[in-house]
Amino acid sequence: MTPGPAILESRALTVRYGDTLAVDAVELAIMPGSRTAIMGPSGSGKSTLVHALAGVVRPDSGEVWFEDERLDLLSEGERSRRRLARMGMVFQFGDLVPELTLVENVMLPLQVLGEKSRHARARALEMLDTLGVADLADRRTGAVSGGQIQRAAVARALVHRPAVVLADEPTGALDSLTAERVLDTLVAVAGATGAALVVVTHDHVVASHLDNLVVVRDGRVAEGAVA
Ligand SMILES: Nc1ncnc2c1ncn2[C@@H]1O[C@H](COP(=O)(O)OP(=O)(O)OP(=O)(O)O)[C@@H](O)[C@H]1O
Ligand SMILES: [Mg+2]
Repeated sequence: MTPGPAILESRALTVRYGDTLAVDAVELAIMPGSRTAIMGPSGSGKSTLVHALAGVVRPDSGEVWFEDERLDLLSEGERSRRRLARMGMVFQFGDLVPELTLVENVMLPLQVLGEKSRHARARALEMLDTLGVADLADRRTGAVSGGQIQRAAVARALVHRPAVVLADEPTGALDSLTAERVLDTLVAVAGATGAALVVVTHDHVVASHLDNLVVVRDGRVAEGAVA
């Protein structure tokens, strides 16, 4: 791929929680179609960085650019719309809606984009099948395992063919074989749709499926660091 402008970029991105400098002047450029692993110790700021890149958390200072637009300058509603339409998110602690079944959860991004229920359901079932949990489509999150929830969350992040997928420990609750399968799916679907993939992980095997490695320490991207 010829190098071009980044699809998602941070400039001097800084996020504080009280006295804690969770993200400290991070410069990061995610290229279209690229595959990046983010690694680093617990508490180093990986989740906060991903949330700021996605516009979930607004930075205290610095800039976030997404598709040639300053995400951090938009209102919360506008940031949500960009995220729902153009990003796929897998949150570290899950955020599927417990009142909905797995397939209804996976249908949500498509419905937000105005797709008709029947079509949305068919596509959601297809994606759940790709992740190996189609047989659980009509169960609520309370009636499936943590790893099955995680796979449904990955299905939801991919179903609307986003420009960027940001996945925070998407395989943390999975055995190593299933983790590899989910990673393969993430890489394959992102590859097929040209999406950039950013995966936070503690797992070196997971990171080895990706092309770039970003190591975060104490809120900073460690130059040339080895995780
Ligand atoms: N909502 C919050 N309020 C206050 N402090 C927070 C909040 N979220 C995170 N922090 C702090 O910010 C720092 C970075 O946290 P973050 O969750 O980004 O780390 P992480 O690298 O994702 O860790 P882990 O690998 O354990 O998931 C930590 O010191 C954490 O305690
Ligand atoms: Mg985290």
